[in-house]
Amino acid sequence: MTATTLEAEKPQEAGATLELFNPFQPGFDENPYDHYRTLRDTNPVQEHPMGFWFVSRHADVSALLRDARLSVADHNLAPGPMRDQYEKLIANAPVKLVTLLDSDPPDHTRLRSLVGKVFTPRAIAELEPMVTELVDDALDRIADAGSVNLIDALAFPLPFAVISTMLGMPDTDPKRLLELTETLVIALEPVADADVMTSIVDAEVELSAMMREVIAWKRNNPADDLLTALIQADHNGDFLSNDELVAQILLLFIAGHHTTVNLVGNGVTALLRHPDQLALLRSNPDLIGNAVEEFLRYDSPTHQTRRITLTPYQVGGREIPAGAMMIACLGAANRDERAFGPDADVLRIDREQARHHVSFSVGAHHCLGSALARLEGRVAISRLVNRFPKLALSGRVRWNGRINLRGATDVPISV
Ligand code: HEM
Repeated sequence: MTATTLEAEKPQEAGATLELFNPFQPGFDENPYDHYRTLRDTNPVQEHPMGFWFVSRHADVSALLRDARLSVADHNLAPGPMRDQYEKLIANAPVKLVTLLDSDPPDHTRLRSLVGKVFTPRAIAELEPMVTELVDDALDRIADAGSVNLIDALAFPLPFAVISTMLGMPDTDPKRLLELTETLVIALEPVADADVMTSIVDAEVELSAMMREVIAWKRNNPADDLLTALIQADHNGDFLSNDELVAQILLLFIAGHHTTVNLVGNGVTALLRHPDQLALLRSNPDLIGNAVEEFLRYDSPTHQTRRITLTPYQVGGREIPAGAMMIACLGAANRDERAFGPDADVLRIDREQARHHVSFSVGAHHCLGSALARLEGRVAISRLVNRFPKLALSGRVRWNGRINLRGATDVPISV
């Protein structure tokens, strides 16, 4: 994809050249937000030559995510480049995994009530001692080392360990499981070349086989864990089938891992780059809950999600035809001055409207793991900051180059 500045079909000012979404421009990796501002100000609902519509203002993004007339199922795409990409993927996929994220009602309603049954706020709150222990063990190792990459030492291992422990995974081959989910997570990126698509499909096949074995084992060895609860989840005599279980368990690994890595990695990076905000948090630890919301807003762990129009659809003064893919840019919406005021680009951990961010989406697909992600973010960041009074960045922060799950890969810190 080499999208550049093109003459759009309907310029908003006569003769104006309107900028198109282009994640391949220099510096985007480090800072996508200046580009997002230009898109919001000049071309907020744009038809992209790659075959999708890109929506960047907070009001438009929130409206479309809440709109029950829109679909998340790719088979509703009209012929075009997006449809072609989908056809290629399913043609090569020997297993078909339907997750919450790609199903519409009534399937989505049914799956959500079954999975939601075990993902209650109370069940999540009970995990706090386990999360605290995992964080403190990691902090002990950081204290011994003196200087580390925060991602390797805390942000990356923590959510993987939390999901595995919650599910009650047998200790068979966590390394292989991690490698495979690392490949599968690339499926959440908007562009993938043919080789990458093949490796995603291969990983999906191997992971499905692995999960089928785990489910069979768990049926014979029930315990007080999420996997047993999912197997036993009963909605008026209705249960999840084996295929549905496999798909939802993989979704939990994929949706819950890198997103949370980014919350901790991007959040700590932002905090250490703003010593005044770090001092404010230290002097007022009760701000941690709001600070986590502001980290989610200021540097989103997820930048995009998608919806498909089933009929012609009006948004931001444009009409989008039926069967079109709309990319809702969560990262751009979270920095919209129209929603967060003129200082939307500033990190303020006591910002009143921080909670209005759309990082967890809104509407029917609102993140099912948001309470867990908030818990992990709150425990990890507050305990890190309180334990190490000399905590500081000790080198250059590097980014992962992803368009959707954009996050830091290297956050060198000294304690
Ligand atoms: C859905 C973001 C952590 C499980 C979503 C969506 C977003 C999101 C944006 C909705 C996409 C849409 O509307 O199309 C995040 C972020 C996280 C996070 C930013 C961390 C900071 C987690 C965790 C879990 C999880 C820890 C579970 C272990 C899910 C599930 C869905 C979902 C199951 C699908 C819900 C549905 O389609 O009904 N997440 N997520 N997420 N998330 Fe999260």
